[in-house]
Amino acid sequence: MDVFEITGPTRLEGTIKVNGSKNASLPIMAATILAPGQSTIKNVPQLSDISVCSELLTALGCKVNRDNNGDISIDSTVVDNPVGDYEIVRKMRASICVLGPLLARCGKAMVSMPGGCAIGYRPVDIHLRGLRELGAQIRIDNGYIVAEAPKGLVGKEIFLGGPFGSTVLGTANLLMAATLAKGITVIESAACEPEVTDLANCLRKMGAKIKGTGSPRLVIKGVRQLKPVEYSVIPDRIEAGTFMAAAAITAGQLHIENGRLDDLMAVVDVLRNIGVTVDKNNNGCVVVRTEPVRTAQITTQPYPGFPTDLQAQFMALLSLAQGNSVVIEKVFPDRFMHVAELSRMAADLRKEGSTVIVSGVEKLKAAPVMASDLRASAALVLAALAAEGTTVISRVYHIDRGYEQIEQKLNPVGAKIVRTNA
Ligand code: EPU
Repeated sequence: MDVFEITGPTRLEGTIKVNGSKNASLPIMAATILAPGQSTIKNVPQLSDISVCSELLTALGCKVNRDNNGDISIDSTVVDNPVGDYEIVRKMRASICVLGPLLARCGKAMVSMPGGCAIGYRPVDIHLRGLRELGAQIRIDNGYIVAEAPKGLVGKEIFLGGPFGSTVLGTANLLMAATLAKGITVIESAACEPEVTDLANCLRKMGAKIKGTGSPRLVIKGVRQLKPVEYSVIPDRIEAGTFMAAAAITAGQLHIENGRLDDLMAVVDVLRNIGVTVDKNNNGCVVVRTEPVRTAQITTQPYPGFPTDLQAQFMALLSLAQGNSVVIEKVFPDRFMHVAELSRMAADLRKEGSTVIVSGVEKLKAAPVMASDLRASAALVLAALAAEGTTVISRVYHIDRGYEQIEQKLNPVGAKIVRTNA
């Protein structure tokens, strides 16, 4: 298992490039199931989660190939095994997003129920509720979601909200299923995340009839068939936000290529309020910090609110602020695995339920720490860049799920990260 040795403190300066979005790529790859033939998806990051998705599509019957430019071609002419096996789904819960497309294409699907997750309890009840409303019969059998719609899916008006607001992959699943359903589907309380919009844009290019993209009310008019597509996914706003936090925590200056501010306004607002300069330029943005970090109150929310996927990274940043900050997690109330590890690096954090009081410290200090999940691990990398000494982060495979060779991106702009195999 790989380990990172990160020596700090360092100041990052230079240009860094953001890859295609992982969370847009995964449902878009699943959407190719809906359109028999060969689709090409461009700008797909080279990540372990993408490999798992390719493995899953291959198991369903598709032929998947990646070329050196990051383009993935998926030939979905044959989808003859509509089964999302436990051995694959347990590696990546986003595998659930094949459920809707399989049901729409094959009239049946069996997908392993996703299990536990380091960021807390993550049910899929809303996905199932939505698909049932479209006429699917669904039962849980032997750990699998067994879904059938022998006479096809039928459009309906569906409220898709849940206890924590909208659901990203739930919306993706229903949207994909509805493209081939008979009649009109209205998804009320749909997720508005840019990744859902990207999926809708890809589906539209395949021939789907979708209105209301980017809003909480999606209207889908079912069509008989979709055609294969060539589509380029959007840049990864969470990777961009992580690099923004990296510039800020190291009092550095980064030109973030493909860092689209429009997708990150809640984050930009926090950065500007805590004394970080963020400016748009032609192909991204420039983030600079020259002043001490000021305190903030962050509440995570569905888009366009502050993204839960940047909560951990910003907690690392606020741990160096002058005073007390408050971080409230409203999407995944238990997503705090990083709190104990950041505390090992001398951050002063007090957790009360799904709120963390962050009392700023003058310095973070290196320590051996353990990566627990993707974004928590990114927070540890950021903290280590600013901390005094050499931090050793174990279980780096968590970082590799969502950041393509992060050390090869950060080292050229001044980081000192060594990957070793422990
Ligand atoms: N929820 C339910 N029932 C459901 C579905 C969701 O109660 O059937 C709850 C969840 O437990 C959570 C909230 O609704 O409290 C929102 O969850 P959502 O369904 O939106 O999450 P997701 O679609 O499973 C995606 C991203 C996550 C990101 C969340 C929130 C992908 C592959 N994953 O997950 O990304 O945190 O949306 O924005 O798109 C990551 O990249 O590190 C990551 C975890």
